[in-house]
Amino acid sequence: MDENLPKRVLGRTDLKVTPLAFGTMWLNRASDEDAEDLLNRVLDLGVNCIDTSRAYGRSEERIGRYLSGRRDEVILATKCGCNPHLDKRGSPHVLTFDRATLERNLEASLRALNTDYIDIWQLHGATPDKLIGGPEGEVVAFMQRMKEQGKVRYIGVSLRHGPKTELGYPTRYGYQCIQEYPDWGVFDVFQLVYGGMVRTSEARLNDAAEKGAGIIVRGVVRDYFDDFPDAFARAGLTDLLAAGEDRRSFLIRYALSHPAVSSVLIGTNNPEHLKANVIAASAGGLESDRYEQAKQRLDQIGSKPGFLVGDVPA
Ligand SMILES: NC(=O)c1ccc[n+]([C@@H]2O[C@H](COP(=O)([O-])OP(=O)(O)OC[C@H]3O[C@@H](n4cnc5c(N)ncnc54)[C@H](OP(=O)(O)O)[C@@H]3O)[C@@H](O)[C@H]2O)c1
Repeated sequence: MDENLPKRVLGRTDLKVTPLAFGTMWLNRASDEDAEDLLNRVLDLGVNCIDTSRAYGRSEERIGRYLSGRRDEVILATKCGCNPHLDKRGSPHVLTFDRATLERNLEASLRALNTDYIDIWQLHGATPDKLIGGPEGEVVAFMQRMKEQGKVRYIGVSLRHGPKTELGYPTRYGYQCIQEYPDWGVFDVFQLVYGGMVRTSEARLNDAAEKGAGIIVRGVVRDYFDDFPDAFARAGLTDLLAAGEDRRSFLIRYALSHPAVSSVLIGTNNPEHLKANVIAASAGGLESDRYEQAKQRLDQIGSKPGFLVGDVPA
């Protein structure tokens, strides 16, 4: 176990998550042997939170198979509203948010994950308009009932980034939803795209956290646009790197500097990348002078709170 990964309280939950969480969206691409090694390595390095979904192929099943003896070491987050039998390669997931889909997903997740409870049960990319009846509707009522029955400990929403062809990709949905959902007062956790290169929701995260929301951010090191590495350099952030620190390590620490962020969620199938991410997360947020400098420099290239990232699609 790595003692250098100090845990952070996740909003109003009683969960204490490590500052790095592990994403398994691409775990399908690894061989069985590599997936087993990677998942165990994640826990051996002290990371205590793993994110999956009904929609991620064999990801849940592999977690269930390879980590079943280590259930008490891991906070398991999965997602619902999924129809994996209808998903087509290369197309967006087919998502439906109704009681029947959730009921089917939960039973399948529990079986695949080889557990009798899910720690964080999230709607997979649901915008508020998709939840008929809002906080009073059947989806929220069913999720709350599952929570009362102990099948899930906490409920949340993972906010979608949408298709690359849409204006505002990848932060528009997250930005809109993080301003609306916390007022419903029913969800404990939100997962959304946020980081130095994708700062749109930066100011809003504080409001959500004040309402008790636990915040897990993703997309921190992902190059949503090809020009992100150049933009990082153009902002003069290369000059702020400490000796031996690379762009992604800096961005992990940037995201962890935000007081509302409990954990950064990153997926990798590369053990060296995993280790680098753990080392960066172990260092926590940036020193305050570097953080302030970084914010000012990012402002200058247009990566600012409240500003959308994507260009108008061609
Ligand atoms: N709507 C939703 O609910 C939703 C949508 C998307 C994702 N997610 C969740 O969020 C997780 C992360 O999301 P994401 O995949 O969009 O973004 P991400 O994990 O931030 O980015 C993944 C990419 O970054 C690379 N990478 C990671 N660490 C690196 C390092 N140290 N050096 C170089 N490259 C590195 C990975 O490649 P390598 O494999 O080569 O390292 C991969 O190409 C997913 O696994 C999934 O659990 C949820």
